[in-house]
Amino acid sequence: MAYPFVAMTDASASLPVRVPLHTRPMGIWQSFRAAQRNVLELIPEVATRVPILSGRTGKRWHMLMDPEGLRQVLRDRVEDYPKSVVTKLILEPAIGDSLFVAEGAQWHWQRRTAAPVFSHRNVAALGPVMTAAAERSVARLAKSGGVADLFEEMVTATFEVIADVTFSDGSGFDRASVHQAIEQYIGATAKVSLLDILGAPTWVPRPNRLMTGSAMRQTKRLADRAIEARKAEGAKAPPDLLDLLMAGADPESGRRMTTAELRDNLLTFIVAGHETTALTLSWALYLCAFDPAVQETARAEAQAMLGDRTATVGDLPALPLARRIVDEALRMYPPAAFLSRTAMTADTLCGREVRPGDTVILPIYALHRHRLLWEDPDAFRPDRFADPKAVPRFQYLPFGDGPRVCIGASFALQEAVIILATLLARFRFAPVPGKEPKPVMILTLRPQGGVWLKAERV
Ligand code: HEM
Repeated sequence: MAYPFVAMTDASASLPVRVPLHTRPMGIWQSFRAAQRNVLELIPEVATRVPILSGRTGKRWHMLMDPEGLRQVLRDRVEDYPKSVVTKLILEPAIGDSLFVAEGAQWHWQRRTAAPVFSHRNVAALGPVMTAAAERSVARLAKSGGVADLFEEMVTATFEVIADVTFSDGSGFDRASVHQAIEQYIGATAKVSLLDILGAPTWVPRPNRLMTGSAMRQTKRLADRAIEARKAEGAKAPPDLLDLLMAGADPESGRRMTTAELRDNLLTFIVAGHETTALTLSWALYLCAFDPAVQETARAEAQAMLGDRTATVGDLPALPLARRIVDEALRMYPPAAFLSRTAMTADTLCGREVRPGDTVILPIYALHRHRLLWEDPDAFRPDRFADPKAVPRFQYLPFGDGPRVCIGASFALQEAVIILATLLARFRFAPVPGKEPKPVMILTLRPQGGVWLKAERV
């Protein structure tokens, strides 16, 4: 393929924070130490300059940054590249063989059943839940005394949204304990997942992978009880994700989800949906604080449309800059910073031999900062997305692509723009000196230390 850009200078002193990618080859022990610090540091700097990198750390692996190759793995030959075993090992204890981890027929019927749940109409109908969460976030920030950890605040706001659209009536569903169980689980399980993916031998010590078992079991029990209660009560108006999924059936076989299948998929929506959206929002706010000029323009756009109102779904077409800021935050800090697959058959990727059993890593972080694909990749420039069609499809993959593309992408984007525009219209955000967030990969790409910002009422 043609690469339009040559390497750009890194000289600019004031760039938003980034992950220090390593520049020298690492042995297993060094890899392990790097993975303990930050899994993303296992991605070498050269991955932002070449289309593919291959190696062997216990087993053969390839890191693929070439859009054509990515299309092959994610779309054209998707059957030959199922999700890696490690992905399943990490996620299965929490979310069972649900949509996110299932393969083959077990995935197909669940995807067919869940797809209509996330139709444009259904997602738009959930807009008021997002508007209400944005409103409550404004109230909390107004009380915060001017300085707040926006990551924590966004985790609260997005958890409210996902809890309200899954188990909205609360029937015995203790949100605080569910939230805590999921947070603990994410924190405890996936610290070295890229190292696992690269195939480090099993004698390499791992952080405690023991699932915070009882908390998660308790969560599943609560969810089952809430589902049974809803079955007895009937659907609400407007229907939430539980109602929609419960009413759904596989259009091919007519099969419906059991309570356990409903529960695993709803917990999947919670795990996959809330922290990722919170990250998008907190990185977007960090970037706005980093670039006051962009922030002012976005505020003018939001205030012109909203006045004193909180944003709603109907406002979205009038908030194009807020949307571009979200797109650019997803480019610079993709919450799912790498995906991984296992090759099932012999293949060739970018001229490289791929053997059955090889691990294919899709380092989205490196793809999104690739020197040959993006102009000034480390700079914050929301206008790259002024014409979304101008960005080649497999060069920008915050939600993956192909049949396994994120089912909640439009839900997440709608929520992020509603909350971001509302906050920008009401507050001016500025960095707190000495409190820069550090991007660290723990299952998702998180800001270590939080995103501390001054939030001043406007
Ligand atoms: C900004 C927020 C989000 C990001 C960045 C994100 C990212 C992703 C990515 C990259 C994948 C593909 C993984 C792979 O191919 O290995 C994925 C899949 C998935 N996401 Fe999201 N996601 C977000 C929000 C959501 C939300 C809000 C929901 C649900 C309410 C959700 C539910 C799912 C599910 C169920 C899958 C598996 C789909 C399948 O395999 O058929 N995600 N997500």
